[in-house]
Amino acid sequence: MIQEYLSQHRGQFIEQLKCLMRFPSVSAQPAHRRDILACADWLAHHFGSFGLDVKLYPTKGNPILVARTRRAPRANTPSVLVYGHYDVQPPEPLDLWKMPPFEPVERGGKLFGRGASDNKGQFFAHVKAVEAYLKTRTPLPVNVTFLIEGEEEVGSTSLIAFVRQRARQLRADYIVVSDTSMFSKDHPTITYATRGIAAMGVRVDGPSRDLHSGVFGGSVANPVLALARLLAACVDARGRIAVPGFYDDVRPLQKWERAQFRRLPFDERAYAHFLGVHSLEGEKGYTTLERRWGRPTFEINGITGGYQGPGTKTIIPAWGEAKITCRLVPDQSPEKIERLVSQYLRRICPSSVKLGLISHGGYRAFHGSPSGRGVRAAAVALKRTFGRKPVFVREGGSLPILDIFKRHLGGEIILVGLGLPDDNWHSPNEKMDLANFDRGMLMSATLLRELGASA
Ligand code: BES
Ligand code: MN
Repeated sequence: MIQEYLSQHRGQFIEQLKCLMRFPSVSAQPAHRRDILACADWLAHHFGSFGLDVKLYPTKGNPILVARTRRAPRANTPSVLVYGHYDVQPPEPLDLWKMPPFEPVERGGKLFGRGASDNKGQFFAHVKAVEAYLKTRTPLPVNVTFLIEGEEEVGSTSLIAFVRQRARQLRADYIVVSDTSMFSKDHPTITYATRGIAAMGVRVDGPSRDLHSGVFGGSVANPVLALARLLAACVDARGRIAVPGFYDDVRPLQKWERAQFRRLPFDERAYAHFLGVHSLEGEKGYTTLERRWGRPTFEINGITGGYQGPGTKTIIPAWGEAKITCRLVPDQSPEKIERLVSQYLRRICPSSVKLGLISHGGYRAFHGSPSGRGVRAAAVALKRTFGRKPVFVREGGSLPILDIFKRHLGGEIILVGLGLPDDNWHSPNEKMDLANFDRGMLMSATLLRELGASA
């Protein structure tokens, strides 16, 4: 019944997903505030249209949506919280898109547009699975609550406070999240860990104004050079982060997981080619997958200072600025990492320039169970619908809310990604593979049944 309903209404679902994708719900850009609100309203209305009880909670930031199925009459029916985010990354650079980012197009079994895979298409698969239960009057095996936020791409600030305040009301036996990727199209995947993040801004001030580099050059520190030196001193030639104490709280990769990652078919050459680099680089002593999934990093996200226009301008710039993010692993604390980086930079900074540091906040990594009941149910659901046993991976990206769920809600967290490595998240020409959307809906329906049976 459910399967028929899903396949009969497929065309309609894709049209609905396109509607959802037409909202430019870019959380990073204040100009899109109205689009965010409109997107949340559309979703609220959509959830209501097939019988969920919906509440839209305004916040200081973007609205949070909570949609619940009416409680099953059966006592001790397990409860499932499905998390997703309706906000998207900025679409820029626009000239690299083959289509306008907010005018979704279907082509060759793929749906292109910003948010297609991260995360609208992924959470929508779960929405349609629940709709299928309700519309076919198939008793829902679990009570489902959708928790859909609009600030994930900017750090989930409002949701973090919301979950802390309403932990009792949101508590669930299982928390299901599809906001990760499959290892490949042929590898249904369960993710048991994601990295955390610590973000900072660094500024180096030199002379009180730009100076003629001929008249004054050689006599004062160049702040951009000083900044470059400071940043370069943070990572050594072996790819290790040189900040004292940085690795103190790093939980080492376990033997079993290193063995498991090594068994995954990962082609370094194809990977380098895919990324457009000649060769790979990273911390010595670790494989590429280990570096990406289980080791912390120090990255410079942007650097600026001095003259950026055409031709040359012979100056000693007055200042230089950079943005840094460190990806963190269990059990690193973002506050401590920030403190260590600040102390180190202050210590090595020459007195000829002035150093300024600001915090852009941070979130802890998430580490869940690779062997709980819920994960076993997900493995069954993936096997049934994707035709293959899932692989167990960690991922390098961050989902700020996962650690908060773990500390405050207490249910088992299950990460079943429906994205693919070439979905172009945060890049031009993002897409969702529609075969994954189809299988995702079925997987979700099966997963809810399996979770219901686990009571
Ligand atoms: N869906 C991603 C998280 C993700 C990325 C999971 C890659 C697994 C693999 C999410 O939308 C995202 O991009 N998060 C940001 C969070 C940040 C702004 C705090 C990230 O990881 O950069
Ligand atoms: Mn996402």
